[in-house]
Amino acid sequence: MILVQAGLSDLEALANLARECGESRWTEETFYPGCRGDENEIVLVLKEASEIIAYAVMAKEYDSCALYNIGVSPLKRRQGLAARLLLEGLAWGQNQDCDRCLLEVRASNAGAIRLYEGLGFVHDGLRKRYYPNPDGSREDAVLMSKHLETQ
Ligand SMILES: CC(C)(COP(=O)(O)OP(=O)(O)OC[C@H]1O[C@@H](n2cnc3c(N)ncnc32)[C@H](O)[C@@H]1OP(=O)(O)O)[C@@H](O)C(=O)NCCC(=O)NCCS
Repeated sequence: MILVQAGLSDLEALANLARECGESRWTEETFYPGCRGDENEIVLVLKEASEIIAYAVMAKEYDSCALYNIGVSPLKRRQGLAARLLLEGLAWGQNQDCDRCLLEVRASNAGAIRLYEGLGFVHDGLRKRYYPNPDGSREDAVLMSKHLETQ
């Protein structure tokens, strides 16, 4: 298994994996900024036999970095892959002189919240009714952050 930065040739596979992860608003178009070599946004991927099995999208926003999305193939979960990618993403943020990492996550996504807590993220509050649900209702976003040691 290798951890690499995704490029434009990975767009289709990324969009397919995002769909499998229930992140269907992530399309080739939304992955594009992180895959075109823009220094402010990257897509880190884990590949096994040249197939993408996990991804994390990180971006620099002024003095902070943000985790925009993370997903692991349903068959490859609970093997530490998301944690590995996120640690690499945090190291990227530190190299970009970011002093903290921000993220938001659906309040019902207990597994992801546990992942972030385990890596030292703290809860900063809620953004009420942020995410749309297929039935027309809305769900709160949990806002989380982690302080990064600047170099
Ligand atoms: C959330 C997600 C990225 C986690 O990926 P993963 O590779 O399975 O996570 P890891 O194996 O690195 O988990 C590390 C720790 O996080 C916690 N964790 C991860 N998934 C969990 C789950 N479903 N339930 C409870 N805890 C969980 C555990 O503490 C885990 O450590 P452990 O396995 O030793 O108990 C994956 O389930 C996924 O792709 N979900 C769909 C997309 C999504 O929800 N993305 C996040 C919102 S943007």
